[in-house]
Amino acid sequence: MVAVNDIYFLRNIWYHAMPSHELKPGKMMAKTLLNEPILWGRTNQGQAFAVRDICPHRAVPLSCGWYDGEAVQCCYHGWRFDAEGTCIEIPSLLPEQAMDLSRFNLQRYDIKEVQGNLWIYMADPESRQVQPPRFDVPRVPGFDDQVRPQLTYRMRFPCYIDHAVVGLMDPAHSPFVHRSWWWRGSTLNPEVKWFDPSPYGFTMRRHHMANMGRGYWLMGGVPDNEIIFYLPGVRTEETTTAKHRVANLTTVTPLTDTETDVTFELYWDLPWGNVLKPVLPWLIRSFLGQDRDVVVKQQQGLKYESVLRLIKDSDTLARWYYQLKKEYQRCQAENRDFNTPVKTQQLRWRA
Ligand code: FES
Ligand SMILES: [Fe+2]
Repeated sequence: MVAVNDIYFLRNIWYHAMPSHELKPGKMMAKTLLNEPILWGRTNQGQAFAVRDICPHRAVPLSCGWYDGEAVQCCYHGWRFDAEGTCIEIPSLLPEQAMDLSRFNLQRYDIKEVQGNLWIYMADPESRQVQPPRFDVPRVPGFDDQVRPQLTYRMRFPCYIDHAVVGLMDPAHSPFVHRSWWWRGSTLNPEVKWFDPSPYGFTMRRHHMANMGRGYWLMGGVPDNEIIFYLPGVRTEETTTAKHRVANLTTVTPLTDTETDVTFELYWDLPWGNVLKPVLPWLIRSFLGQDRDVVVKQQQGLKYESVLRLIKDSDTLARWYYQLKKEYQRCQAENRDFNTPVKTQQLRWRA
Protein backbone atom coordinates (compact mmCIF):
# COMPACT_ATOMS: atom_id res chain seq x y z
CA MET A 1 0.00 0.00 0.00
CA VAL A 2 1.16 3.53 -0.71
CA ALA A 3 0.07 6.46 1.43
CA VAL A 4 -1.20 9.20 -0.85
CA ASN A 5 -0.63 12.05 1.58
CA ASP A 6 3.10 11.45 1.68
CA ILE A 7 3.96 14.52 -0.42
CA TYR A 8 7.62 15.47 -0.94
CA PHE A 9 9.94 16.38 -3.79
CA LEU A 10 13.37 14.85 -4.28
CA ARG A 11 16.24 17.27 -3.83
CA ASN A 12 19.85 17.34 -4.94
CA ILE A 13 18.88 15.99 -8.31
CA TRP A 14 18.45 17.32 -11.87
CA TYR A 15 14.97 18.17 -13.12
CA HIS A 16 14.00 18.88 -16.68
CA ALA A 17 12.87 22.51 -16.81
CA MET A 18 11.90 23.29 -20.40
CA PRO A 19 12.98 22.84 -24.01
CA SER A 20 15.84 25.27 -24.76
CA HIS A 21 13.99 27.01 -27.57
CA GLU A 22 11.39 28.39 -25.15
CA LEU A 23 13.99 30.69 -23.64
CA LYS A 24 14.94 33.18 -26.34
CA PRO A 25 18.09 35.35 -26.24
CA GLY A 26 17.46 38.67 -24.49
CA LYS A 27 14.28 37.40 -22.83
CA MET A 28 13.26 36.32 -19.35
CA MET A 29 10.35 34.32 -18.02
CA ALA A 30 8.99 33.12 -14.70
CA LYS A 31 8.56 29.44 -14.10
CA THR A 32 7.95 27.93 -10.69
CA LEU A 33 9.44 24.50 -10.03
CA LEU A 34 9.04 22.45 -6.85
CA ASN A 35 7.10 25.37 -5.33
CA GLU A 36 10.11 27.70 -5.83
CA PRO A 37 9.65 30.88 -7.88
CA ILE A 38 12.39 30.88 -10.49
CA LEU A 39 13.31 33.57 -12.98
CA TRP A 40 14.71 32.18 -16.22
CA GLY A 41 16.65 34.29 -18.65
CA ARG A 42 18.96 34.12 -21.61
CA THR A 43 21.54 36.83 -22.21
CA ASN A 44 22.04 38.47 -25.58
CA GLN A 45 25.09 36.20 -25.92
CA GLY A 46 22.88 33.13 -25.54
CA GLN A 47 23.83 32.11 -22.00
CA ALA A 48 20.86 30.73 -20.06
CA PHE A 49 20.51 31.33 -16.31
CA ALA A 50 18.09 30.77 -13.46
CA VAL A 51 17.81 32.80 -10.26
CA ARG A 52 15.28 33.21 -7.48
CA ASP A 53 12.39 35.26 -8.80
CA ILE A 54 11.99 37.44 -5.70
CA CYS A 55 13.60 40.82 -5.22
CA PRO A 56 15.58 40.76 -1.96
CA HIS A 57 14.55 44.39 -1.31
CA ARG A 58 10.76 44.11 -0.88
CA ALA A 59 9.93 40.76 -2.42
CA VAL A 60 8.44 41.87 -5.71
CA PRO A 61 8.93 39.15 -8.35
CA LEU A 62 11.77 40.24 -10.61
CA SER A 63 9.89 38.80 -13.56
CA CYS A 64 7.49 41.78 -13.16
CA GLY A 65 10.38 44.06 -14.10
CA TRP A 66 12.53 44.51 -17.20
CA TYR A 67 15.31 42.60 -18.85
CA ASP A 68 17.62 44.03 -21.52
CA GLY A 69 19.62 40.89 -22.21
CA GLU A 70 22.32 41.95 -19.70
CA ALA A 71 20.61 42.65 -16.38
CA VAL A 72 17.21 42.27 -14.77
CA GLN A 73 15.70 45.37 -13.22
CA CYS A 74 13.08 45.25 -10.49
CA CYS A 75 9.90 47.21 -11.27
CA TYR A 76 9.59 48.65 -7.75
CA HIS A 77 12.83 50.58 -7.01
CA GLY A 78 14.90 49.56 -9.99
CA TRP A 79 17.54 47.38 -8.34
CA ARG A 80 19.51 45.54 -11.01
CA PHE A 81 20.94 42.01 -11.08
CA ASP A 82 23.10 40.26 -13.65
CA ALA A 83 22.89 36.69 -14.97
CA GLU A 84 24.94 35.44 -12.02
CA GLY A 85 22.36 36.89 -9.64
CA THR A 86 24.83 39.56 -8.52
CA CYS A 87 23.25 42.80 -7.39
CA ILE A 88 24.95 45.41 -9.60
CA GLU A 89 22.98 48.59 -8.96
CA ILE A 90 20.72 50.33 -6.45
CA PRO A 91 19.55 53.48 -8.23
CA SER A 92 18.57 55.38 -5.05
CA LEU A 93 22.17 55.38 -3.74
CA LEU A 94 24.18 58.56 -4.17
CA PRO A 95 27.72 58.12 -5.50
CA GLU A 96 29.20 58.82 -2.05
CA GLN A 97 26.92 56.28 -0.35
CA ALA A 98 29.15 53.25 -0.70
CA MET A 99 27.45 49.98 0.10
CA ASP A 100 28.37 46.34 -0.20
CA LEU A 101 25.80 45.19 -2.74
CA SER A 102 26.88 41.56 -2.57
CA ARG A 103 24.65 40.92 0.44
CA PHE A 104 21.67 41.39 -1.91
CA ASN A 105 22.79 38.79 -4.42
CA LEU A 106 20.09 36.44 -5.64
CA GLN A 107 20.10 32.72 -5.11
CA ARG A 108 21.41 31.20 -8.31
CA TYR A 109 20.58 27.74 -9.67
CA ASP A 110 22.89 25.37 -11.51
CA ILE A 111 21.48 24.70 -14.92
CA LYS A 112 22.63 22.72 -17.95
CA GLU A 113 21.64 22.64 -21.58
CA VAL A 114 21.75 19.14 -23.01
CA GLN A 115 20.26 17.85 -26.27
CA GLY A 116 18.05 20.90 -26.68
CA ASN A 117 16.72 21.00 -23.13
CA LEU A 118 17.29 23.06 -20.02
CA TRP A 119 17.83 21.10 -16.82
CA ILE A 120 18.04 22.51 -13.32
CA TYR A 121 19.73 21.12 -10.24
CA MET A 122 17.32 21.52 -7.34
CA ALA A 123 19.46 21.56 -4.22
CA ASP A 124 18.04 21.02 -0.78
CA PRO A 125 17.01 24.46 0.54
CA GLU A 126 17.27 23.26 4.15
CA SER A 127 20.83 22.01 4.17
CA ARG A 128 23.44 24.73 3.86
CA GLN A 129 25.83 22.35 2.24
CA VAL A 130 24.92 21.84 -1.39
CA GLN A 131 25.45 18.20 -2.18
CA PRO A 132 27.12 17.58 -5.52
CA PRO A 133 25.01 15.75 -8.09
CA ARG A 134 25.01 12.02 -7.55
CA PHE A 135 24.49 11.57 -11.25
CA ASP A 136 24.37 13.66 -14.37
CA VAL A 137 21.46 14.73 -16.55
CA PRO A 138 20.10 11.62 -18.33
CA ARG A 139 20.96 11.50 -22.04
CA VAL A 140 18.80 10.39 -24.92
CA PRO A 141 20.76 7.38 -26.21
CA GLY A 142 22.33 7.42 -29.65
CA PHE A 143 22.31 11.21 -30.13
CA ASP A 144 25.07 13.60 -29.16
CA ASP A 145 24.79 16.40 -26.62
CA GLN A 146 24.37 19.13 -29.23
CA VAL A 147 21.37 17.64 -30.99
CA ARG A 148 17.86 19.08 -30.48
CA PRO A 149 14.58 17.18 -30.50
CA GLN A 150 12.69 17.19 -33.77
CA LEU A 151 9.49 17.43 -31.86
CA THR A 152 8.48 18.70 -28.44
CA TYR A 153 5.09 18.55 -26.81
CA ARG A 154 4.23 19.60 -23.29
CA MET A 155 1.12 19.03 -21.26
CA ARG A 156 0.29 20.16 -17.75
CA PHE A 157 -1.22 17.54 -15.48
CA PRO A 158 -3.27 18.93 -12.55
CA CYS A 159 -1.79 16.54 -10.01
CA TYR A 160 1.14 15.76 -7.75
CA ILE A 161 4.21 14.41 -9.59
CA ASP A 162 3.80 10.81 -8.38
CA HIS A 163 0.43 10.33 -10.05
CA ALA A 164 1.78 11.58 -13.37
CA VAL A 165 4.91 9.39 -13.17
CA VAL A 166 3.02 6.28 -12.13
CA GLY A 167 0.28 6.91 -14.68
CA LEU A 168 2.77 7.18 -17.52
CA MET A 169 4.81 4.10 -16.60
CA ASP A 170 1.83 1.89 -15.85
CA PRO A 171 1.82 -1.06 -18.29
CA ALA A 172 -1.76 -2.19 -17.61
CA HIS A 173 -3.74 0.95 -18.40
CA SER A 174 -3.25 1.07 -22.17
CA PRO A 175 -6.17 -1.11 -23.30
CA PHE A 176 -8.53 0.96 -21.17
CA VAL A 177 -7.14 4.46 -21.38
CA HIS A 178 -5.65 4.50 -24.88
CA ARG A 179 -8.54 3.29 -26.97
CA SER A 180 -7.89 4.94 -30.29
CA TRP A 181 -8.42 3.50 -33.74
CA TRP A 182 -4.95 4.58 -34.74
CA TRP A 183 -3.20 3.03 -31.77
CA ARG A 184 -4.69 -0.27 -30.72
CA GLY A 185 -7.89 -2.09 -29.88
CA SER A 186 -9.02 -3.20 -26.46
CA THR A 187 -7.98 -6.86 -26.64
CA LEU A 188 -5.59 -7.97 -23.92
CA ASN A 189 -2.37 -9.70 -24.89
CA PRO A 190 0.09 -11.37 -22.56
CA GLU A 191 3.35 -9.46 -22.10
CA VAL A 192 6.61 -10.76 -20.70
CA LYS A 193 9.51 -8.37 -20.13
CA TRP A 194 12.82 -8.49 -18.32
CA PHE A 195 13.81 -5.62 -16.07
CA ASP A 196 17.19 -4.74 -14.61
CA PRO A 197 18.34 -2.14 -12.12
CA SER A 198 20.10 0.87 -13.66
CA PRO A 199 21.49 4.02 -12.03
CA TYR A 200 18.71 5.60 -9.91
CA GLY A 201 16.08 3.70 -11.82
CA PHE A 202 15.47 0.60 -13.90
CA THR A 203 15.68 -0.61 -17.47
CA MET A 204 13.30 -2.64 -19.52
CA ARG A 205 15.79 -4.90 -21.22
CA ARG A 206 16.29 -4.43 -24.95
CA HIS A 207 13.96 -6.70 -26.88
CA HIS A 208 12.58 -7.30 -30.33
CA MET A 209 9.22 -5.62 -30.60
CA ALA A 210 6.00 -7.56 -31.09
CA ASN A 211 2.32 -6.80 -30.48
CA MET A 212 3.12 -3.12 -30.68
CA GLY A 213 1.12 -0.35 -32.22
CA ARG A 214 0.87 0.10 -35.93
CA GLY A 215 3.32 2.29 -37.76
CA TYR A 216 6.68 0.78 -36.82
CA TRP A 217 7.06 -0.75 -40.28
CA LEU A 218 7.90 2.78 -41.38
CA MET A 219 11.25 2.35 -39.67
CA GLY A 220 12.24 -0.50 -41.98
CA GLY A 221 11.75 -3.76 -40.14
CA VAL A 222 10.67 -4.83 -36.69
CA PRO A 223 12.69 -2.70 -34.28
CA ASP A 224 14.43 -3.33 -31.00
CA ASN A 225 13.29 -1.35 -28.04
CA GLU A 226 14.79 -0.36 -24.72
CA ILE A 227 13.24 1.82 -22.02
CA ILE A 228 15.15 3.37 -19.13
CA PHE A 229 13.58 5.13 -16.16
CA TYR A 230 15.53 7.57 -13.99
CA LEU A 231 14.60 9.48 -10.87
CA PRO A 232 13.02 11.96 -10.39
CA GLY A 233 10.71 11.17 -13.35
CA VAL A 234 12.59 10.77 -16.61
CA ARG A 235 12.11 8.10 -19.21
CA THR A 236 14.08 7.45 -22.37
CA GLU A 237 12.93 5.02 -24.99
CA GLU A 238 15.14 3.95 -27.83
CA THR A 239 13.72 2.18 -30.85
CA THR A 240 16.22 0.97 -33.43
CA THR A 241 16.37 -1.02 -36.61
CA ALA A 242 19.50 -1.83 -38.60
CA LYS A 243 18.95 1.44 -40.48
CA HIS A 244 17.26 3.90 -38.18
CA ARG A 245 16.84 5.18 -34.67
CA VAL A 246 13.97 6.96 -32.94
CA ALA A 247 14.33 8.07 -29.35
CA ASN A 248 11.80 9.50 -26.99
CA LEU A 249 12.46 11.57 -23.90
CA THR A 250 9.56 11.96 -21.52
CA THR A 251 10.10 14.07 -18.44
CA VAL A 252 7.84 14.74 -15.49
CA THR A 253 8.56 17.87 -13.48
CA PRO A 254 6.55 19.23 -10.55
CA LEU A 255 5.71 22.93 -10.57
CA THR A 256 3.75 22.79 -7.32
CA ASP A 257 2.16 20.08 -5.17
CA THR A 258 -0.76 19.96 -7.56
CA GLU A 259 0.66 20.87 -10.97
CA THR A 260 3.09 18.84 -13.03
CA ASP A 261 4.56 19.32 -16.48
CA VAL A 262 4.89 16.32 -18.74
CA THR A 263 7.18 16.96 -21.69
CA PHE A 264 7.31 14.50 -24.55
CA GLU A 265 10.08 14.79 -27.13
CA LEU A 266 11.19 12.84 -30.15
CA TYR A 267 14.62 12.56 -31.71
CA TRP A 268 15.03 10.65 -34.95
CA ASP A 269 17.32 10.08 -37.88
CA LEU A 270 14.52 9.22 -40.31
CA PRO A 271 14.93 11.00 -43.64
CA TRP A 272 11.15 11.12 -44.14
CA GLY A 273 10.50 12.08 -40.50
CA ASN A 274 9.53 15.63 -41.36
CA VAL A 275 6.55 14.37 -43.34
CA LEU A 276 5.04 13.20 -40.05
CA LYS A 277 5.67 16.48 -38.25
CA PRO A 278 2.25 18.05 -38.90
CA VAL A 279 0.29 15.06 -37.55
CA LEU A 280 2.51 14.06 -34.65
CA PRO A 281 1.47 16.87 -32.28
CA TRP A 282 -2.14 15.85 -32.82
CA LEU A 283 -1.37 12.21 -32.04
CA ILE A 284 0.70 13.06 -28.99
CA ARG A 285 -1.91 15.48 -27.66
CA SER A 286 -4.57 12.86 -28.03
CA PHE A 287 -2.42 10.17 -26.39
CA LEU A 288 -1.12 12.26 -23.47
CA GLY A 289 -4.56 13.80 -23.11
CA GLN A 290 -5.94 10.34 -22.37
CA ASP A 291 -3.34 9.92 -19.63
CA ARG A 292 -4.17 13.32 -18.23
CA ASP A 293 -7.94 12.76 -18.33
CA VAL A 294 -7.71 9.64 -16.22
CA VAL A 295 -5.45 11.43 -13.73
CA VAL A 296 -8.10 14.19 -13.46
CA LYS A 297 -10.67 11.54 -12.63
CA GLN A 298 -8.28 10.02 -10.10
CA GLN A 299 -8.04 13.41 -8.35
CA GLN A 300 -11.74 13.21 -7.54
CA GLY A 301 -11.27 9.86 -5.82
CA LEU A 302 -8.10 10.85 -4.01
CA LYS A 303 -10.13 13.32 -1.94
CA TYR A 304 -11.71 10.32 -0.26
CA GLU A 305 -9.05 7.61 -0.43
CA SER A 306 -5.69 7.89 1.29
CA VAL A 307 -4.01 4.67 0.18
CA LEU A 308 -3.27 3.07 -3.16
CA ARG A 309 -3.10 -0.71 -3.51
CA LEU A 310 -0.39 -1.91 -5.83
CA ILE A 311 -0.47 -5.47 -7.12
CA LYS A 312 2.20 -7.90 -8.28
CA ASP A 313 3.86 -7.68 -11.66
CA SER A 314 1.83 -5.00 -13.45
CA ASP A 315 2.33 -2.53 -10.59
CA THR A 316 5.93 -3.48 -9.92
CA LEU A 317 7.23 -0.45 -11.82
CA ALA A 318 5.08 1.84 -9.69
CA ARG A 319 6.34 0.12 -6.56
CA TRP A 320 9.91 0.54 -7.69
CA TYR A 321 9.28 4.21 -8.32
CA TYR A 322 8.05 4.75 -4.77
CA GLN A 323 10.90 2.66 -3.34
CA LEU A 324 13.56 4.40 -5.44
CA LYS A 325 12.26 7.77 -4.39
CA LYS A 326 12.25 6.82 -0.70
CA GLU A 327 15.74 5.37 -0.94
CA TYR A 328 17.08 8.47 -2.68
CA GLN A 329 15.67 10.57 0.12
CA ARG A 330 16.88 8.23 2.84
CA CYS A 331 20.45 7.72 1.61
CA GLN A 332 20.96 11.48 1.66
CA ALA A 333 19.53 11.86 5.14
CA GLU A 334 21.80 9.04 6.32
CA ASN A 335 24.73 10.24 4.24
CA ARG A 336 25.43 6.88 2.64
CA ASP A 337 25.45 5.23 -0.77
CA PHE A 338 22.28 4.56 -2.67
CA ASN A 339 21.11 0.93 -2.53
CA THR A 340 18.79 0.19 -5.37
CA PRO A 341 15.58 -1.59 -4.38
CA VAL A 342 15.24 -2.90 -7.96
CA LYS A 343 16.04 -6.56 -8.63
CA THR A 344 16.55 -8.16 -12.01
CA GLN A 345 13.36 -9.99 -12.80
CA GLN A 346 10.86 -10.97 -15.39
CA LEU A 347 7.46 -9.34 -15.13
CA ARG A 348 4.30 -10.66 -16.72
CA TRP A 349 1.00 -8.95 -17.31
CA ARG A 350 -1.83 -8.65 -19.81
CA ALA A 351 -2.28 -5.42 -21.69
S1 FES B 1 11.37 45.67 -4.33
FE1 FES B 1 12.78 45.33 -5.87
S2 FES B 1 13.89 47.15 -5.93
FE2 FES B 1 12.60 47.45 -4.27
FE1 LIG C 1 -0.61 6.12 -20.99
